[in-house]
Amino acid sequence: MTVVRDILRTMDYGVAPESDEHARAWLTAHSGGFGHFIGGSFTPPAHLFDVFNPARGERIARVSQGTEADVAAAVTAARKALKPWSALSGDARARHLYALARHIQKRERLLAVIETLDNGKPIRESRDIDVPLVARHFYHHAGWASLIADEFAGHRPVGVCGQIIPWNFPLLMLAWKIAPALAAGNTVVLKPAEFTPLTALAFAEICVEVGLPPGVVNIVTGDGATGAALVAHDDVDKIAFTGSTEVGRAIRLATAGTDKKLSLELGGKSPFVVFEDADLDSAVEGVVDAIWFNQGQVCCAGSRLLVAESIAERMYAKLRARMEKLRVGDPLDKSIDVGAIVAPVQLERIKQLVEAGEREGAKVWRAPCPLPERGSFYPPTLVTDVEPASILAREEIFGPVLAAMTFRTPDEAIALANNTRYGLAASVWTENVNRAFEVAAKIKAGVVWINSTNLFDAASGFGGYRESGFGREGGREGLAEYLVAPATPTKSGKAVKAALNALPGGAPAPDGDAVDRTAKLYIGGKQARPDSGYAYAALDPDGKVVGLAGLGNRKDVRNAVEAASKASGWGAATAHNRAQVLYYLAENLESRSDEFAARLVAQTGASVREARAEVETAVRRAFYYAGFADKYDGAVHATKTRFVTLAMNEPWGVMGIVCPDEAPLIGFVSLVLPAIAMGNSVVAVPSAAHPLTATDFYSLLDTSDVPAGVVNIVTGEAAALAQTLAEHDGVDALWCVGPRELAKTVEAGSAANLKATWTRLPPRDWGDEQGRAYLRRATQVKNIWTPYGE
Ligand code: NAI
Repeated sequence: MTVVRDILRTMDYGVAPESDEHARAWLTAHSGGFGHFIGGSFTPPAHLFDVFNPARGERIARVSQGTEADVAAAVTAARKALKPWSALSGDARARHLYALARHIQKRERLLAVIETLDNGKPIRESRDIDVPLVARHFYHHAGWASLIADEFAGHRPVGVCGQIIPWNFPLLMLAWKIAPALAAGNTVVLKPAEFTPLTALAFAEICVEVGLPPGVVNIVTGDGATGAALVAHDDVDKIAFTGSTEVGRAIRLATAGTDKKLSLELGGKSPFVVFEDADLDSAVEGVVDAIWFNQGQVCCAGSRLLVAESIAERMYAKLRARMEKLRVGDPLDKSIDVGAIVAPVQLERIKQLVEAGEREGAKVWRAPCPLPERGSFYPPTLVTDVEPASILAREEIFGPVLAAMTFRTPDEAIALANNTRYGLAASVWTENVNRAFEVAAKIKAGVVWINSTNLFDAASGFGGYRESGFGREGGREGLAEYLVAPATPTKSGKAVKAALNALPGGAPAPDGDAVDRTAKLYIGGKQARPDSGYAYAALDPDGKVVGLAGLGNRKDVRNAVEAASKASGWGAATAHNRAQVLYYLAENLESRSDEFAARLVAQTGASVREARAEVETAVRRAFYYAGFADKYDGAVHATKTRFVTLAMNEPWGVMGIVCPDEAPLIGFVSLVLPAIAMGNSVVAVPSAAHPLTATDFYSLLDTSDVPAGVVNIVTGEAAALAQTLAEHDGVDALWCVGPRELAKTVEAGSAANLKATWTRLPPRDWGDEQGRAYLRRATQVKNIWTPYGE
């Protein structure tokens, strides 16, 4: 028998298994197989496939493979439930969400054990992290349900949402998707991952238990084919996806031109940056949470360790010592650190990637932890001497494997951190607060943790930059993904018409010389001849030539993108400076009102009154965005105690903007000005039919101190230019106003670098008041978490 003295000598842990009795009883009760949850009840099990416990390699359940017909039935149920659910008062929806949260808490232990059996994650994590966060998400969004009417005035729910989730945090990802959707008045069809469908089915039972109206939540199980059927369904209004970048790209292509709203939360290869002044012991514990939490199967895992060269060997030695103490084994054991890999296929993928890295010359060190004989397990692994180009530095391994590299200077650390196609998260370790924030600001990632890692909260947005996807989950940012901004004017009626009635009708003199001038393109602050050498005729409504504009092509767009990326200093300028430039622009436009109005009359055949009104609205809009340049604030989210969570609105960088054909002045100004007010530089394609207004803008930009490259204008055929912008890697976001076919071209083209697109902007009178919707689309939110206190 072990005596206390022996325990104190060896300090060995005993076995501390969590009981799985209730979870097993639940599984036994469903031993005939699970059906789908559609319209408030379960369908008879059909087309069953096996679900395994990866820690033991044994089958624990059988679940239905959803067919197209199942998906269609679920979408029909969700559509039917939409009207009554969205018509409920916010408070009534809040009560349902509270009830879900409470019942999740009541079933906490059962859900945690099912999650661990199904996924292989340590019970310590499913019990203390996943399930409490699930409840927190439902509580938090219950609050939002009550507040939406005030905080998002005039917004409406998107409609029926198709939601597809991965296997790494099955119930937590369900909560991230379902809670905001329901709070905002949407109904959902959710497809859990084929490896881990069980907690979603247990959640369906909770929906019945709390009396959630039938059809508000529908769960269809199955593999990628079921997911694809959901994406393809015509009556789905939004797709929210979390998973691999590859599938995210396929979904972007499948939804191109369909008007489905889309948010993608994809992969990552997040840097964990340790400077020489970091508290090394804390950083080592940070690494444990960054890459061995959930066996490294975390989209934001700190999988690339970037460490200052001067402390690298010391850090590695401490890490190896810590890794030797990690316990790998039965995830139901409460004192286990690292559980099972989700499935044999994933284990094989990890092995192959590490072996490929080894062949490339990286040094692989696997912790000498004993592994269980059965089940899918992989030891915590540290790989050093990893080159930036190595497969281990580039590919998402999604396993307990840390790839380490060194740097010498902060600039080199930032360059290495950004040397990835992803941009989900980053962790920065230094005791120097100035350095911490400088690096946090310069790393391109949606979340940055300072002296901390892998922190999540319902009040904070989560989501990526670049190929890590677009859209946010959590907090105010996440909720906006499930709402549609009002298409009707928020202020009083149609501004153009009001301005029109207030103006005298005297005619400004049309510019008689217009036809003689051939407008060039405007690139990098200079007029540039189009590469094609061709110009095209801009016609008035009677077919008379009113001027010639350059016929831009692919090469011109590339030059413009290059000029725009060189103008990145604009984003770094103070918002006050940007405001001053925009005010100057507004004044200059105002002083040339007659000239711009005359040009509108000549091009579009508008009456003088209408033209004057358009110019006046454009001037007002310029003042409006000048005013807003330094007022579109971020936020400090109320997340965890002893953390400041800063939500910073950052510009995308280079934006492409394809303007509408109609309203050549106000259409151009309404899109370009909010983009540059927020610090983006822009490549704009103006109205193809009426390009001359935009080309008149060149001199306005020159005289208003707009720095070279901040606004670049390429005239020509919209579809071809839009496609080039969509496919260009250097364009970070793209807005495009135009018909469905154009939206399709743009969205399909954007799949290459997964840039955020905004197409099919709500049909509007360009004179309507605009507001924050445009500023939100001109920025992306970076959440920076900083601890305080000792
Ligand atoms: P996956 O992206 O294939 O699966 C995620 C979800 O998408 C699952 O529910 C799946 O059934 C569904 N799906 C698959 N193909 C689909 C399609 N064509 N249309 C609609 N839905 C589809 O991820 P998988 O294969 O499970 O894991 C592969 C790799 O992806 C991992 O090794 C990891 O690198 C990455 N991954 C990243 C995740 C993240 O959170 N960023 C989560 C899971 C995986």
